[in-house]
Amino acid sequence: MSEARDIREPQGKLGVLMPGMGAVATAFMAGAELIKKGHAEPIGSLTQLGTIRLGKRTENRVPKIKDFVPLAEMGDLVFGGWDAFPDDAYEAATLAGVLEKEHLNAVWGELRQIKPMPAVFDSRYVHKLSATHAKSYSSLREAAEQVREDIRSFKREHGLARAVMVSCASTEAYLQSRKAHFSLESFEKALDRSDPAISPAMVYAYAAIMEDVPYANGAPSLAADVPALVELANERGVPVGGKDFKTGQTWMKTIVAPGLKARMLGLEGWYSTNILGNRDGEVLDDPESLKSKEVSKLSVLEHVLQPGLHPELYGDITHVVKINYYPPRGDAKEGWDNIDIFGWLGYPMQIKINFLARDSILAAPMVLDLALFLDLAQRAGMGGIQEWLSFYFKSPMVAPGLYPEHDLFIQLIRLGNTLRTIGGEEIIHHTGLDYYE
Ligand SMILES: NC(=O)c1ccc[n+]([C@@H]2O[C@H](COP(=O)([O-])OP(=O)(O)OC[C@H]3O[C@@H](n4cnc5c(N)ncnc54)[C@H](O)[C@@H]3O)[C@@H](O)[C@H]2O)c1
Repeated sequence: MSEARDIREPQGKLGVLMPGMGAVATAFMAGAELIKKGHAEPIGSLTQLGTIRLGKRTENRVPKIKDFVPLAEMGDLVFGGWDAFPDDAYEAATLAGVLEKEHLNAVWGELRQIKPMPAVFDSRYVHKLSATHAKSYSSLREAAEQVREDIRSFKREHGLARAVMVSCASTEAYLQSRKAHFSLESFEKALDRSDPAISPAMVYAYAAIMEDVPYANGAPSLAADVPALVELANERGVPVGGKDFKTGQTWMKTIVAPGLKARMLGLEGWYSTNILGNRDGEVLDDPESLKSKEVSKLSVLEHVLQPGLHPELYGDITHVVKINYYPPRGDAKEGWDNIDIFGWLGYPMQIKINFLARDSILAAPMVLDLALFLDLAQRAGMGGIQEWLSFYFKSPMVAPGLYPEHDLFIQLIRLGNTLRTIGGEEIIHHTGLDYYE
């Protein structure tokens, strides 16, 4: 066995702070409150329902993950956030239309109390929204200071021992890392001169890390993944992860593509199209926000299939991703995938996937898991990029020079082995040879 990490116990309450209190965040908060009251099961949550095998198969040691590593209890979670509109969590959840009235009314009192703090908002980054609940500041430095003060006062007000931040804010316009983001020094100067290269998503991430609050980004916007903020997270030993929750079509893609590759079947093309009608869809109706999402969605196939190693199978793939805003569907997104594959002697075949999903129902348990795992990482002294949480993201953050691992099953094995290592158990390498010796 390896030596268990010294992990601080999760004593006291844990704040879960979310920039963006829309469909995902409110489905998460309402669901968590229902679960706390015993009205629902935490379906979709690995931290709550997942198990972990320890030792050999003959040992029959398969505890629940939450009984193996010391995670915060759901009853100790307190929710808060920021939004560009003043609706409390009940009003925002009603507007989002994800959960039925019957569910929302059962936690009406709890949701009414969760009022968003004013957002750091810049319409250059989210064109489709006109904020009515935004901070005023004379510089981005001041905006960051205000968010830091929000975090401190939220912790004080609710008597919190610790907090984590999981961003559920609207997708911002596509941005590539540039000079202002390359080092912490240049980032700090850019904050002082309110450089437009610093987005609101980065301001939240910076404020969180400065407050030693672990941070994960559920949106595809550029934030903690810029070199400056990775440097800051390493320097302060704060866990960070992201980005873009891997919920629907991309989740399917990272299940099916590894299966094709495992059998050495070829791929000629993958056409993915979606319709969705929630506010996320409305924001994505703007070409600049859409580009952030498309880049995030398009990146997965290449890394899973490795065309450089298998040019005869994956050297010439047509990969198309379309997202269309279609209001009648609300949060009940529908995705279609047409996958043109080929097998023995090059004979063509097709796979069709029609996924009638519910976006926020798939994302909400991920917010819970990320909050609990980020908090665990911090108590276990693991700062910087948490690659073991790639499982949850379309565009996983990795150390410079590494390519991201997108295969869902490799990601799950890594997550499990990281937990085993934290808990002082042997990692499982699945050779199984010792059973036959
Ligand atoms: N639902 C999913 O399955 C899924 C999957 C992957 C990624 N995401 C991403 O998660 C994010 C949230 O999705 P959603 O469906 O809840 O969207 P949503 O539109 O319902 O909620 C986003 C909220 O963010 C607020 N907002 C915008 N700019 C802000 C700012 N600068 N500061 C604070 N709040 C701000 C908006 O007012 C809105 O209430 C989006 O970026 C989406 O692309 C969602």
